[in-house]
Formats: sequence, C-alpha cells, structure tokens
Amino acid sequence: MYPVKKGQVAHQAHVGLPAGAYEEEHGRKGFYGKTAHLYHANPPTGWTRFEGKLRPHLLDLNRITPTDQTDAQGQPTPVLGNAQIRVSVSRRAEAMPFYFRNADFDELLFVHRGTGIVETDYGPLAFEPGDYVVLPRATTYRVVPATTDNFILVMESKAEFEQPEKGLLGQHALYDPGVITIPDPAPGTLAGPEWEVRILAGGEYSKVFYSFNPIDSIGWKGDLFAWKLNLRDIRPVMSHRAHLPPSAHTTFVTEGAVVCSFLPRPLEEDPEALRVPFFHRNTDYDEFLFYHEGDFFSKDNIKPGMATLHPRGIHHGPHPKALFNQHNKTRTNEYAVMLDGLNPIDVLPGGEAAEWPEYWASWGAGANIK
Ligand SMILES: [Fe+2]
Repeated sequence: MYPVKKGQVAHQAHVGLPAGAYEEEHGRKGFYGKTAHLYHANPPTGWTRFEGKLRPHLLDLNRITPTDQTDAQGQPTPVLGNAQIRVSVSRRAEAMPFYFRNADFDELLFVHRGTGIVETDYGPLAFEPGDYVVLPRATTYRVVPATTDNFILVMESKAEFEQPEKGLLGQHALYDPGVITIPDPAPGTLAGPEWEVRILAGGEYSKVFYSFNPIDSIGWKGDLFAWKLNLRDIRPVMSHRAHLPPSAHTTFVTEGAVVCSFLPRPLEEDPEALRVPFFHRNTDYDEFLFYHEGDFFSKDNIKPGMATLHPRGIHHGPHPKALFNQHNKTRTNEYAVMLDGLNPIDVLPGGEAAEWPEYWASWGAGANIK
C-alpha cells in the first residue's frame, strides 16, 4: 500500500513542503497508525463559521473556583471527561481535614502552582510546581499545602498511569528513572481524636472513621506505590532535521489516554523542516492541552492556566502568526501538559463556565498570510 504519492508532495513528512502548501496529517491511532499527508492550497483551519456542536474549545481554567478553594472540606471541580478519564481543577488553600481514597480512578496530579506535601500510605511526597504525582487507585492520601494560592490539575483514569515504552531510545531517554522520587514511610500528621477516610467508589462518596491515624505504615515493599517526577527532569527528544510528533513527548500511558509533556527545546535547524506543529485532524483522539508556563509560540493569546480541547474530526494547528514567523525563531520556551483521550472527551458543566466561545475563530484573521 505504501508509499502512494499523488500530485505535489514533500519528499519526506514535515520537510520541504511544496511552495505555498499547507501540510496536514490525516492519521489513525494518534501518531502511531496509518497516515497520509495532504498538501492543501489553504490552511485547513481557515474556516469561516461553524454550525452544530463540534468545535475547538478553549477553557481559561484560572476562572474555575472549586469548592476546595474556600472550604477545607471541599472538592476539585471536574471540567472535562468521559467514561475512562476525567480532568479536574483543585485550588485547595488549606490542608485536607480528612484522608481521601479514590477507588474509582487512578490519579495523576500535575502541580501548576503551589507547594506542600501529599501524605500517602507509602509516605509523604513534597510537591512543587511542575511535579507529576502518581497516586495508584485506592491510595489513601491527604494534600497539605504550604501555600494558599494553589492550582493542581487532577487527571483521573480507569486504568494505571504507566511509563511509556522507550524502545530504540533506551531506558534513559526522556528522563533517567533515577530522578523519580519514591516516598519513605512516615506517620500521617492529621490530628485526631477521630480520623476520616473519604472513599470515592461507584461515583459516590462514603466515609470510614478510625480512632487512630490510618497513615501508619512502618514499611512497605513491592512494585505498586505513589511516586513523582518533575518537568525539569524531563529531557525532551528532538531531531534537528524533522519535526517530531507529540507522541515523542509521551510521559505517561493509560488505557484511555496518553499524557505528554512539552518543554523548552531548540527548534529544527534544517532550513526546510517545519518548526511548528503540523495541521492534523485527530481521527482517534481528542486532545486536551494545558498551558503551564512560558511563551506559547504556536498559539496567540494563550496564558498560563488556560487549556484547549481539540476534538476529533476538526483540524487544528499553528496560528497564522506562528506559521508565518516559524523561521525567525530558534527555540521554544513553553511548558505544557497534554492529555490525549482515546474516546471523545466532553466539556463538563464545571468547565463550561470557563469557555472562551470565540476560540474557533482564532485562526481566522490573516489565515492566508504567507
Ligand atoms: Fe494536536
């Protein structure tokens, strides 16, 4: 079947596009499956209007005020999700006066802002901005912030968050496993006389009470435990000659999603290589992208704490200005976290309030600039 070439095409993907053409990747299974590159005369995001439900979304998650921001007994606000994965925002300002155990989902916390400690069955993990904290399903834990202005993105999955296969790159690619932090057992610090463990199971909260602090492990062993990794320890892979797909930046895999980390890096040196993400239409995945820090070169008007959701079936790609300026830049300076969902991801009622409804039009002005 492959290679089939028709009409004017690039010799290789993302390099030396036909003059004036816009390259689009139409692929299956994220960036792992069958692929065609189409060379368009116009940018695929140059639409003029939408009808119907399907459209790209932008959420300013800074506008979310979860109940845990003002009430120690409160909870994060779910903003996006489907049957397999869910994304919530926690703005917890005070220590949890209870322990929590999520029996419905594995959890991956991403710390956007704030410092503190997560007490777990396995011991405490200190957290800081840029941390990913992995909490296996049904781990008992409590978030104890040291700061009051905190912002944690809570990613939940029906399956474990695991490290990706690194294959040809070797086990020290992306990050050396030696940088992972694994907790040492230590007693919980929540004061009594009664201790609550709040359990989420079957979508409902139940509470179990003890006359002793249940975070009381004196030791543990095995291959299931809480752990953490910071963005600063991830060393992204790149090619100086070709733009690599987002999957090259995968940090976690789970059954319903992959989580990727985009970090500052030099741009491609080859004068013919594309230096911005190529247009694509996400045939099998919905893409959630959270902007953590830095200058988000490929998108205009994006600030830290904002997020986009690009559903399958509609193209996305660089904004016209980024496409036009790509050869004037030598580096990216962005820190962003992407969760690609294998099944359609819905904006939940908690997220609707944070939507910027005109986002779909953001590629429009000057879309034909060359
Ligand atoms: Fe994408």
